[in-house]
Amino acid sequence: MSRNASTNWYFAIVSGENAELARVEIETLLQIVDSKYEISWHGSVAIIEGLQDPTDFLLHRAALLKEAGMIVFETDSLDNAAHEISDELLKSSIGNNETFCIRTRSFLQSRKTETRGRLVIELGDKIQRTTGAKVHLENPDIRVLVLALSDRVLICTSEESQLRGQLRRRRPGRKPFFHPSMMNALLARTMCNLAHVMPNENVLDPFCGGGGILCEIASIGAKPIGLELNWRLLKGASMNLAGIQDSDYSLIQGDARSLPIKECHHVVTDPPYGRASSTRGEKAVRLVTALLESAEETILPGGSICTCHSSEMGIPDVIRQLGFEIEYQIRFRVHSGLVREVITINF
Ligand SMILES: C[S@@+](CC[C@H](N)C(=O)[O-])C[C@H]1O[C@@H](n2cnc3c(N)ncnc32)[C@H](O)[C@@H]1O
Repeated sequence: MSRNASTNWYFAIVSGENAELARVEIETLLQIVDSKYEISWHGSVAIIEGLQDPTDFLLHRAALLKEAGMIVFETDSLDNAAHEISDELLKSSIGNNETFCIRTRSFLQSRKTETRGRLVIELGDKIQRTTGAKVHLENPDIRVLVLALSDRVLICTSEESQLRGQLRRRRPGRKPFFHPSMMNALLARTMCNLAHVMPNENVLDPFCGGGGILCEIASIGAKPIGLELNWRLLKGASMNLAGIQDSDYSLIQGDARSLPIKECHHVVTDPPYGRASSTRGEKAVRLVTALLESAEETILPGGSICTCHSSEMGIPDVIRQLGFEIEYQIRFRVHSGLVREVITINF
């Protein structure tokens, strides 16, 4: 990588479970911070060049992010990394009254455990000698991460995602109201990110069920608007939203085929499919077609739709027939009988 003196280098490590969705989530969030980032992917590791530090925003927003931070030093092998990094760089990254720990993560074919162990000892000694900082393994001020990639070694300062644990704790089974049709918090948050949802925006889920997506809209600080045919599920959504601090939401019993709502910034939704959710006799694809037909009246210019549905519904054809352009279409297998896809459209 050739370094531009005026920019900094950052990294993000994403979960490997759904690599494409995770990459698109990070790239969309980076676009929100600054459209000029240069990003290169090395498996599940993104290397990001830019003027602004995106770390806090990514950690606060990205569902599929494991950890992120700043790249302090780059070299080509593990063997001499501790010797090559300069005292000045270490002093500018770690203060003398701070504490630190060092971890390594290898994305190499051979794990090189011995070399990594030696590097941790050598680098730890050098940091203590040059900066005066002390080791603290449980709760350090600075987490140093050595990333061994196939073509380079990166010495970074890193923070692990706290959001992943929070999203696991917000899964449907742990909410005050549960229904099997509810969207899990991890995917709901990713979809909100793909739709570019920002605090204070109005965001509609016209098939809101028990409110899995609505809860993530609220957690971002946007205003969720839920529409649902089934009164019992709508009541469940209100129980789930009531548990979220400072949430300001609207819930309406109604039919997505005749939307009573205008001036939304975004629509984030998953139309009914399978046995868990009823369509009251209508074909699910007809429901989505009706929603898309009224989208331009409902969504403000600059807004977006993000939908997750069964890939068997043929939604991409409907979108194209109506003259909209698909920004992203990402497929993933849920189980042998179900492939879902996430699609985004911008207005
Ligand atoms: C997959 S579930 C939605 C899950 C929900 N979006 C979440 O985040 O947890 C689909 C929902 O669409 C509702 N539904 C079916 N037909 C509808 C219609 N015509 N208008 C509004 N809601 C409808 C069903 O009652 C069901 O709750």
